[in-house]
Amino acid sequence: MHYQRYKDNKPERSRGASIGIGAAIAHRLAQEGANLILFSRTESKLKYLSEEIQSKIDTNTIKIFTTAVDVASHVQVTKAVSNVVKQNGPIDVLINNTGLALRAPATFPDLKIEDVVAMTETNVNGYLFATYAVLNEGGMRERGQRTILNVTSTTAMEAPPFPSESIYYGSKRFQEGFTDALRTELAGTNIKVLALRPGVVATHFHKQRVDFDKDAYDSFMEGFETLLAEDVAEAAAWMLVRKNESW
Ligand SMILES: NC(=O)c1ccc[n+]([C@@H]2O[C@H](COP(=O)([O-])OP(=O)(O)OC[C@H]3O[C@@H](n4cnc5c(N)ncnc54)[C@H](OP(=O)(O)O)[C@@H]3O)[C@@H](O)[C@H]2O)c1
Repeated sequence: MHYQRYKDNKPERSRGASIGIGAAIAHRLAQEGANLILFSRTESKLKYLSEEIQSKIDTNTIKIFTTAVDVASHVQVTKAVSNVVKQNGPIDVLINNTGLALRAPATFPDLKIEDVVAMTETNVNGYLFATYAVLNEGGMRERGQRTILNVTSTTAMEAPPFPSESIYYGSKRFQEGFTDALRTELAGTNIKVLALRPGVVATHFHKQRVDFDKDAYDSFMEGFETLLAEDVAEAAAWMLVRKNESW
């Protein structure tokens, strides 16, 4: 999950997520001078990322705030967003990025119900709770401006032709529907609601998806060139940094 803040028309951004696409976007937005608010479940990974970013830029130019949050818990999300706002002021950009797929190649009836819940709580509830908290406690609705960027997936467009995608695909379709409807609901404000749909990106996501089975991972990745997390970060930066009038 990522947030971005603007101040005096200069991008001042923040965002969360400890590895993969989230980490790449954090690095990329730090280059733009963004203040970053980084959320994931693992404080140690966030600290590492924060130090890595700070080591590459002038530490006086941006602030990085990290806190361990499970987006499946609306209590944790609300509390963390409230704390951040008290310390740093209102949030200007939310990037919903947390997501996971589990237990490939299990088909839906072969999944453990705990895995179904883990995926839906993260991929569906996580996007809802973060968006709700940022619009309310984060002050975005009150000010009626800024941006929500939801990282969905090309798989949201068409069901992939292999097993173990029912929950992931379904949740990505949910994210698309939520994005579209929220955009319509907020049309009278100056809050932009955007969707970024990566194709296959070489991250921890795909290792976890197949339970860290190297053969299954290699077989899935065979025959095509994947995107890198940095490619997606570049797309996110392009969407967020473009001038208002061209959005
Ligand atoms: N990789 C791809 O091919 C691909 C393609 C299209 C779309 N996407 C989407 O891109 C997004 C990022 O994927 P990725 O490839 O970067 O995955 P990743 O490398 O596995 O990273 C996932 C991030 O989400 C965080 N996270 C997971 N569950 C969380 C929870 N309950 N609460 C808070 N944070 C949580 C993880 O941190 P902690 O473990 O520390 O919590 C981690 O920072 C996802 O929405 C995914 O669906 C990925």
